Amino acid sequence: MSSHQEDTRLFQGKDHSVTYQRYRPKYEGYNIVEKFMTFLQEQCPPPYQLALDLGCGSGQSAHLLASHFKEVIGMDCSEEQIKAAQGSSTLTNVSFRCGDESSLGSIQDGSVDLITCAQSIHWMDLDVLYKELDRILKPGCLAAYGYHSNTVHVTDDQSELETQLQDIVQEINDWIMPYWSEKINLIYSAYKDLPLPFTDNKRYVDEVKYQEMNAEGVFGLIESFSAYQIAIKKHTDGTKRFRDYRRKE
Ligand SMILES: C[S@@+](CC[C@H](N)C(=O)[O-])C[C@H]1O[C@@H](n2cnc3c(N)ncnc32)[C@H](O)[C@@H]1O
Repeated sequence: MSSHQEDTRLFQGKDHSVTYQRYRPKYEGYNIVEKFMTFLQEQCPPPYQLALDLGCGSGQSAHLLASHFKEVIGMDCSEEQIKAAQGSSTLTNVSFRCGDESSLGSIQDGSVDLITCAQSIHWMDLDVLYKELDRILKPGCLAAYGYHSNTVHVTDDQSELETQLQDIVQEINDWIMPYWSEKINLIYSAYKDLPLPFTDNKRYVDEVKYQEMNAEGVFGLIESFSAYQIAIKKHTDGTKRFRDYRRKE
């Protein structure tokens, strides 16, 4: 199996998709959609027919598009992620299906106004993606976005807890570090080094300092990382070790 195929299998587990859906950010309140919708409007005016969210995970990034497009398709190579997305969606104009950049054949030429890749483009074969994008995209927009964070903040006056939590999180992050795919470096560079086939690119790096979450949220987020999922498969004591961490909370 190629390293690319291995990487795209990182989100296949059922438990992983449940954790993913529960603990990953829902992108609310960060002004992300406004940024790419403004860019899209500069390229062509509304109304907009179709948006494709590729690497949609358990649905969080596809749902953001529902009010702007007549139809939204969320696509992901993981069947379990798609099942989780379908199970949670109540929006009638958003549908989900399994697929990746090499299986966009069902999408008609020149039919898509916007393609979003939320925390996912770094996993894809970009040559294949950009060729398909050239075929299916109207004059429109590809919006690739993501996030990373290494620090923990407890927002109320509990600095002792914050220090303890920061130490534990640091220890787990060090433990899972060897299991990150090198593709994750694109995320850590805020997509600065992402190769793009266009000339009219815009790049935003937001000043969001942290997202408020409690200790359970912090540990759940780490548990949803692909590197953590690999680490606990490679180390039989991994799950026990993580439970020990959770007990320290
Ligand atoms: C980090 S998650 C992001 C999910 C969601 N978009 C979000 O914002 O939370 C990455 C997702 O991309 C999917 N993925 C990885 N490689 C892919 C590919 N080549 N084509 C489609 N989906 C892919 C994974 O299965 C996973 O669900």
